[in-house]
Amino acid sequence: MHSLGILLSGRGSNFVAIADSVDAGRIPGARISVVISNKADAPGIATARQRGLHALVIPSKGKAREEHDREVVTALKHHKVDLVCLAGYMRLLSPWFVQQFPQRILNIHPSLLPAFPGLEAQEQAFAYGVKVSGCTVHFVDEELDHGAIIVQKAVPVLDSDDEHTLAARILEQEHVAYTDAINVVLARGFTVIGRRLVTAR
Ligand code: GRF
Repeated sequence: MHSLGILLSGRGSNFVAIADSVDAGRIPGARISVVISNKADAPGIATARQRGLHALVIPSKGKAREEHDREVVTALKHHKVDLVCLAGYMRLLSPWFVQQFPQRILNIHPSLLPAFPGLEAQEQAFAYGVKVSGCTVHFVDEELDHGAIIVQKAVPVLDSDDEHTLAARILEQEHVAYTDAINVVLARGFTVIGRRLVTAR
């Protein structure tokens, strides 16, 4: 059984999409062992509780990065997590954290990386005037929004869009992309050559 750990800081719609996929059997052999938020008021953590999942708040405020990371990793290991999914987790992981789960930490970002890393990626893309944007699920490394790409989904930018309608269509694709990426990683049939993830046939 694969044991997923979800880290979030806010709304939690990507977490819910993953949980729905697990419940529907779209991520075979996986269960969500723990959901952790660094913010007590994250709506996603309330949702996790309502769904009957182990839900923990490990506050980050006022703590050094590595001190907080050590508490989170301890909780993940306690729950025997073997795949960590960042789902709107608004913290950069320390190199130490990343090293605890080699090629086993995923993040989702609402742009086609390497375009528009960082905050408000959909607004950045909209303001830049791109005609295509989308989302990226990638491995987490020591740099922000940077590790090898697992799955990307493209979303056209329409003349009728504003940043909100664009973000909403990207979010729909995020919810599909995260499940796809988890399945790629759990199947283990891939290699990473340089930055290129290639799936064995
Ligand atoms: C998503 O847009 C995700 O790509 C980004 O943060 C947002 C989280 O949304 N990393 P939610 O909390 O999953 O609804």
